[in-house]
Amino acid sequence: MERITENLIRCPSCKGGYCSVNRDEKDFFTCRVCGERFPVRHGFIDLAPELHLSKSVAQFFMESPAIVSVYESRFWRRSLAAALALGISFDKEARLIGKAANIANADSVLDLACGPGIYTRAFAKIMGNGRVVGLDLSAPMLRWGAKQAKKQGLDNVLYVRASALDLPFEDESFEAVNCCGALHLFPDSNKALDEVSRVLAPGGCFTVAAVRKGEGLLGAVREIYSQTMGVKGFTSQGLGQTLEARGFSGIHCHHDSRRWLIMSAVKQ
Ligand SMILES: C[S@@+](CC[C@H](N)C(=O)[O-])C[C@H]1O[C@@H](n2cnc3c(N)ncnc32)[C@H](O)[C@@H]1O
Repeated sequence: MERITENLIRCPSCKGGYCSVNRDEKDFFTCRVCGERFPVRHGFIDLAPELHLSKSVAQFFMESPAIVSVYESRFWRRSLAAALALGISFDKEARLIGKAANIANADSVLDLACGPGIYTRAFAKIMGNGRVVGLDLSAPMLRWGAKQAKKQGLDNVLYVRASALDLPFEDESFEAVNCCGALHLFPDSNKALDEVSRVLAPGGCFTVAAVRKGEGLLGAVREIYSQTMGVKGFTSQGLGQTLEARGFSGIHCHHDSRRWLIMSAVKQ
């Protein structure tokens, strides 16, 4: 853990120093400047011990052990029902994302709102010596992901619990940031995109898959219903403009049909 956390985690409290593991206190990460301590538990560093997910219906599912245990299986993210609703299978989406972000050649990648790490661990396997950080707010998701990473002997993965709206990393820390299946859940997606732009190195790639806003009357009704569940859809044009305003170029829409949008952009 010492190797992959080196000069990576900016203290969420004072924002002025790096946190590192204290050799005498292996269960804590300590800020070298303000001394604040953050627990390491169940294989992840909890950088937001006081922070909890807003309890929308969608977020409630993300904390549910039953959903966590099937999330990566053919009953949820890899299900036929999901592929039909989104207009693309998970495997095809993953191939698109991996290629667009050039993951195989990246040294440091952030998998934002990683859930149990369906992308995090896949990236770790193809990155060799590169480091991949999976960040999420759901402790049950992270616990599951960390357990799987350990089982699979992946030593280049780090899981951290923190908010996507306040990333605990120094500016320009990552060569690629991936955020799939989550932007539509964030309470303030613009703030999260500000953070993505801040932590990405110039020339770094941002890949995103998110719920697509419906068209026409049916789409509008569906959008109202989705928002009551805590899911806010995007249009490719709207998201493209939001990214452009944050200094991204080369904005590319890879998939824009049914309920799903897959896009990539490069930070200038
Ligand atoms: C549907 S899962 C996506 C998991 C994975 N990235 C994928 O592609 O399948 C959405 C995740 O977003 C996380 N999440 C929601 N709001 C968040 C926030 N503000 N900060 C960090 N993670 C958040 C949830 O805990 C959940 O694990």
